[in-house]
Amino acid sequence: MKFCVQPGGSLTGRIRVPGDKSMSHRSVMLGALAEGQTQVSGFLEGEDALATVAAFRAMGVKIEGPDNGKLFIEGVGLNGLVAPEHALDMGNSGTSMRLLAGLLAGQEFTATLTGDESLCKRPMGRVISPLERMGAVIASEPEGRPPLIIYGQGTLRGIHYDLPMASAQVKSCVLLAGMYAEGRTSVTEPAPTRDHTERMLRGFGYNVERRNGVISLEGGGSLKGSTIDIPADVSSAAFFLVGASISPGSDLTLEHVGMNPTRIGVLNILGLMGADIQVLNEREVGGEPVADLRVRHAPLKGIQIPEEEVPLAIDEFPALFIAAACAEGRTVLTGAEELRVKESDRIASMAEGLTTLGIQNQVRPDGIVIEGGTLGGGAVSTYHDHRIAMSFAIAGLRASSPIDVLDCDHVTTSFPGFAVLASKAGLLLHEAADA
Ligand code: S3P
Repeated sequence: MKFCVQPGGSLTGRIRVPGDKSMSHRSVMLGALAEGQTQVSGFLEGEDALATVAAFRAMGVKIEGPDNGKLFIEGVGLNGLVAPEHALDMGNSGTSMRLLAGLLAGQEFTATLTGDESLCKRPMGRVISPLERMGAVIASEPEGRPPLIIYGQGTLRGIHYDLPMASAQVKSCVLLAGMYAEGRTSVTEPAPTRDHTERMLRGFGYNVERRNGVISLEGGGSLKGSTIDIPADVSSAAFFLVGASISPGSDLTLEHVGMNPTRIGVLNILGLMGADIQVLNEREVGGEPVADLRVRHAPLKGIQIPEEEVPLAIDEFPALFIAAACAEGRTVLTGAEELRVKESDRIASMAEGLTTLGIQNQVRPDGIVIEGGTLGGGAVSTYHDHRIAMSFAIAGLRASSPIDVLDCDHVTTSFPGFAVLASKAGLLLHEAADA
């Protein structure tokens, strides 16, 4: 399936984008391992989060839904999972694989984690290495690629781990394994990353400490079933924040967006570029800050993106590159080598598409330089990466000719209904079969 986008249009009205992907995964994992029932609302019914649901069902957990974003989970307790009969297929989802690797390392059975072609190329050595230090036994393909066979050992030992890269998935993997470890497990990170695991563990009654930058927990505790209201995903909102900023006449309100401080780099960066975004009706829902965001068109300027914002906006760079393409002057991104190991190499995929659309750019090992200019049209490849697809779709709002965004099937991993919602807001887009 491809997106055919006509040039022009503007984004107006009020919309709510689907639920937060990171929180959706974690709600299933902790709900499944809790004692008692967990009720989730606002759950993301996208393929990635559904892969996590399927994995826990395959390990004996009763999960009803999702139905209209609602999920009921009968928790089995930390030691209540049963061995799955088949390999657990995580599809395209790196979060499912890396977090589950931590949980499975502490089980008393063996399980295999596999995924689609893209996931099977992604590095898992980053979770294998700390888990092995904790006593886990894991087999993988060369260079730590999936499938992973995790020979559950029952008990692990607590370690201290200094994360070599800013990765919430690695942090979460180690902390989740830490629940099954003897003694204390602690981590430090080179820069703060999303803290949904820590927040949600506390919400389920598991004590997680953060002291002088060290995050730690004691093994052997328990989780208590909970009620979770998942806000709209700021990463999905990002496409509309950029789309409205770059298209004259736009005035769009995004409702109930998660505003966790470890996730709002996109707002900070767009703010530095001159975007007009108002944060309205700020409130707290289930331990996470939430707000409505009103975004109007504004002329953007190129900036040097502060490196401390990089982990706080790591999934939003494809959209931000479109903002940079429409800005006046040069935007420089550094310290973002992690973009190369996402669902695609996001520096390379975006650079290629921007070049096709006539935007000058220069790729660097850890980032990119983008010269603001005039977006033309053409056919762009997405490398089967959902966020590349949605980024080039919103580029149509400022393009001078039609854009064909190829291979858009993966958009459903994080944003089911994107084409319908974006059209409702004013993007001139229709879906067509790929030639
Ligand atoms: C995620 C962490 C990030 C992010 C991913 C979701 C999470 O990955 O890119 O989409 O839910 O923990 P890294 O930990 O690899 O940076």
